[in-house]
Order: sequence, then structure tokens, then C-alpha cells
Amino acid sequence: MKQNKGIKIYVTESYEEMSTTAAHLLGAQIRLNPTSVLGLATGGTPVGMYKNLVRMYKEEGLDFSGITTFNLDEYYPLSRSSDQSYYYYMTDHLFGHVNISKDRIYIPDGEAKDVETECANYDAKIEELGGIDLQVLGIGTNGHIGFNEPDTFFPKSTHLVDLVEETIQANARFFNSIDEVPKQALSMGIGSIFKAKKIVLLANGTHKAKIIAETLYGNVRPEVPSTILQFHPDVTFILDKEAAAEL
Ligand code: F6R
Repeated sequence: MKQNKGIKIYVTESYEEMSTTAAHLLGAQIRLNPTSVLGLATGGTPVGMYKNLVRMYKEEGLDFSGITTFNLDEYYPLSRSSDQSYYYYMTDHLFGHVNISKDRIYIPDGEAKDVETECANYDAKIEELGGIDLQVLGIGTNGHIGFNEPDTFFPKSTHLVDLVEETIQANARFFNSIDEVPKQALSMGIGSIFKAKKIVLLANGTHKAKIIAETLYGNVRPEVPSTILQFHPDVTFILDKEAAAEL
């Protein structure tokens, strides 16, 4: 395996082991700093991690009462009450099962009338609360992190994104049909993500192997947004062995 200075890489045997490793890392963050600000991701990858965090709350007394969370993104336009919204996902997988305080949960508002103000307020709130201590990321097969799609520049702050066809197709599995997948989303920018003190990226499956290798060893460029992580001082990748197959 080639070495990438600064980025720690854990290769696990399975999706289950990736999920428990990630949950232990978050659990340690929460125990060491019970008022941590966490950045959270949705999608298929972190479902097992959230399941383990719920178990740690129920069986091991992991205390979420002082924790603040900011989610990376939300579809736009989409109502919070839709069972496809990331608000719903987070309630279903984590918030509905642990003792987190509702007023410390932040997710971009997929129904915002004034998108610019919503985005500016989101970044301002992160700053006001002292920034993100630990940011969890998944990764798209095209290298998107959050919904920062391949582009000619790295978007700085939270913004409205046009989802690319590859992302719409990848996410169609969560909807009844591809036509139901929203074509836009509100997403934290690369700049917002990059300001996090620590970043943990999770990936599993053969379909992520190529982009993981590119992210770690490819040239840093906005056409593959995840490559920017090479410049961050504290990044940990937790992979299953399939996603690590090309390292
Ligand atoms: C989700 C997010 C996306 C996903 C990525 C991978 O909040 O920001 O970047 O992490 O699309 O999705 P899955 O995990 O479904 O492969």
C-alpha cells in the first residue's frame, strides 16, 4: 500500500467492521468532548455506524445530550416530512433513538424560500458554535463529498447544487423511481467541510475502490472534489477491504 502523508487509513474486513470502527471513533469523540460539534453524512454507507451508535447509547450509556450536529446536505426542494428527506433519514437512523437535544440538530432546510439566506445562515451557525470538531463523510463514485459535484472550482460555502446524472442514478435506489429523485440539493461547500478539525471518511464496496485510490493518490483537482482531502491535516479513512482493493 502506498503511503499518503497525514491521512490515516484503516482497512477493515467487512462493512460491519467498518461500521463498528467508525462508531467507536465517534463514541470516543463524544466521551472525550461531550459538547462536540459533529458533522454528519447520510446515504447507505453510514447506516451501520448509526446503528452501532444507537446500540452504544442504549447499552453503554453514550451520552448525546450535549452534542450538536450539522448535516452535510439536504435535497432541494423537499419537505422535511418526506420519507426521502435527509431529515427523515437522520431521525430514523439516529436522532429518534438517542438523547440528542432537538434544538442542537442542524440540517439545511430543503423547503427554504430564500436559499441564499438559508445557506449563509447555515455557515454562520457553524462558525458561531465554534466549528465542526469531527466531520463524517461518505464519497460518491465521482468523488463528490457532501453534494459537491465535480466542477472547475472548489465551492467554498453552503450552496445550492445541481446534482449530476451519476448521483441522481446512484440515489434512485432510495426512491420509487428515478423521476422522484430531486435534481438539486443544498450542500455544505468544500470550504465548510475543510474547516472541520477532524475528518473521517467511510467507504465500502468494490464500486468505491477506484475513487478511493484516486482520492488518496490522484492530482488534487476540483474535477475530483474528494482529492482536496490530501491537503487536510487530520483525515482518517475507514474502508472495507473491497473499497481498499486498489490501494
Ligand atoms: C450524503 C452525502 C453524499 C454521500 C455519497 C455516498 O450526506 O453527502 O456525499 O456520502 O453520495 O453515498 P452512499 O453512502 O449511499 O454510497
